[in-house]
Amino acid sequence: MEKKITLGIFGFGCVGQGLYNVLHHTKGINATIKKICIKHKYKKRPIDASFFTTDRNVLLNDPEIDVIVELIDDVPAAYEIVKTALKKKKAVVSANKKMIAEHFEELLQLQAENKVSFLYEASCCASIPIIRNLEEYYDNELLNSVEGILNGSTNYILTHIFQHNKSFEKALKEAQELGFAESDPRLDVEGYDAKYKLMIILVHAFGIVLHPGDVFNYGIQHLNDFDIRYAKEKNMTIKLIAKCRKVGNRVYALCMPKFVPVSDTLNKVNYEYNGLILEGAFSETQFFMGKGAGGNSTGSAVLSDISALTYDYKYEYKKMDQHLNYKYSNDHILEVFVRHNGKDVINPNDFESISVRYASSEYSYIIGKINLQQLISMKWLTSREINVILTENNT
Ligand code: HSE
Repeated sequence: MEKKITLGIFGFGCVGQGLYNVLHHTKGINATIKKICIKHKYKKRPIDASFFTTDRNVLLNDPEIDVIVELIDDVPAAYEIVKTALKKKKAVVSANKKMIAEHFEELLQLQAENKVSFLYEASCCASIPIIRNLEEYYDNELLNSVEGILNGSTNYILTHIFQHNKSFEKALKEAQELGFAESDPRLDVEGYDAKYKLMIILVHAFGIVLHPGDVFNYGIQHLNDFDIRYAKEKNMTIKLIAKCRKVGNRVYALCMPKFVPVSDTLNKVNYEYNGLILEGAFSETQFFMGKGAGGNSTGSAVLSDISALTYDYKYEYKKMDQHLNYKYSNDHILEVFVRHNGKDVINPNDFESISVRYASSEYSYIIGKINLQQLISMKWLTSREINVILTENNT
């Protein structure tokens, strides 16, 4: 039976205000906001001051508040709040992918020990209901892969670069102004944010809990005009993709830029939209697309979790219970394009094979096959003169 819930919200930034807005315009949801904990007392806010406090204990110690909604971007503080709330047997809704990815193991344990729900649909691709679908619809499906665009800010930047010839800096600034980017935008640009989301997906798709250091992320920070021209000449764009795929009994995952032919499904995903392609053994492929960043779209996913709590919904972590025993491994061969400046830092012996070598006075590149494990160990990955992009030939 649907029950009435009382909310204590942490954070009233872009997502907090988005939630307030969607909650306000949604009829029939049995949830009311009692208090909102904020950091800066004197900031002007669009709703009555009586809602606000700067003391987290006002929310955490209030027995009437049965659901804590955590929407702040200070990871250590979010972790303390979520941990305390779960220990006090309050259900928690969070949108904090970094915090969840960094503390997954412990958060799983806390939920089990305290028998409370911890829901986080909004942490992954905002408006796309991917976690609930993986949990409920794909519960018995043997998934082969989940691949897609999991970061709205970088997709916004890449869309503007490719469709409107905008500069990287200008597009990033806009993504920040529109509230899509993280407060430290390097998390978006360097692929960390998409990786955290991928780690959450790995738990619900394959039952694998990892530490952020286990999964390779390489962002779009080294992208230059040469790479963009190369893609355009070949009728392709570049997208920052995150993927996890099962090969036999092993699963690998990564977050990297990829050349995507203009006719490809992922090229339908533009601006702050996210898109996911799921491949199952029996269901074959499905494509999910929706807004991946922004106040209202993220707020709508938070609202859906709140609504699920009115009937005591919990993730059952079905893929973990099925003891699929997949082994995570970065031992996988990729085909990559490596643009460099002709100086002798790239050792061809690190590659399994090289199919193209191109040299010019401006830039040079090679296309070759390399083991992901080997790629991760390459010192030149951090060089600004080098950029690595997955070719379109990787499945
Ligand atoms: N910075 C994130 C993005 C926000 O751009 O996708 C949504 O998680």
